[in-house]
Amino acid sequence: MDIAAFIRHVPDYPKPGILFYDITPLLASPEAFGEVIGRMADAARPLRPTRVVAAEARGFLFAAPLAQRLGVGLAPVRKPGKLPCAAFEVSYDLEYGSNTLCLHKDALAPADRVLIVDDVLATGGTVDAMIRLVGRSGATVAGCCMLMELDALGGRTVLGDIPLSVLLHV
Ligand code: PRP
Repeated sequence: MDIAAFIRHVPDYPKPGILFYDITPLLASPEAFGEVIGRMADAARPLRPTRVVAAEARGFLFAAPLAQRLGVGLAPVRKPGKLPCAAFEVSYDLEYGSNTLCLHKDALAPADRVLIVDDVLATGGTVDAMIRLVGRSGATVAGCCMLMELDALGGRTVLGDIPLSVLLHV
C-alpha cells in the first residue's frame, strides 16, 4: 500500500510559504491507518520496548494503537498544567519563543526501554525534549518511530545513536 497517497499536501499552512503534511486522510482510512500501525509495530518489536512515550496531540494518535499492538503501556507527554501528578518538565526553543513538555515522574521505571513515537520529525525539538524527559526518569530510549521525516530540516541529528524508524521521507 502507498501510504504517501494518504497524506494531503496543504500549501501555505499554517503560514505562507509552509507546506503542511495533513494526516487526516490517513486517519480516515482504517485500512491505511492499520497498515501504518502494523509497519510501526514490525519496526519496533526488535527494539524490545517496555513503554511507549508520545507527545500531544498528533503523537497520541499513533502511539496509543501502537502501544496496544506491542502489548506495552503508554506514557503521555503533555503541555504544562495538563498532568495531574508530580511531573518532570523540559523546555526547548522554537523559532519564536519556547515550548515546555511534561511527563509524570512515576510514568517510567529505570529498567524501562522506551519507544518514542510521533507523526512527524521536523526540527527534532519535540523528540529531543522527550529524550530528555525519559532521561530524567532514569529509563533508556530504545528507539524512535515516526510516520514522516522532513529530511531537509535535519532533525535526526538530535537522536545521536538512538535507532530511528521512519515510514515516509518528505
Ligand atoms: C508537531 C508534530 C511533532 C512536532 C515535530 O507537533 O506532531 O510532535 O511538531 O516538530 P519538531 O521536530 O520541529 O519538534 P505540534 O507541536 O505541531 O503539535 P500538535 O501535535 O499538537 O499539532
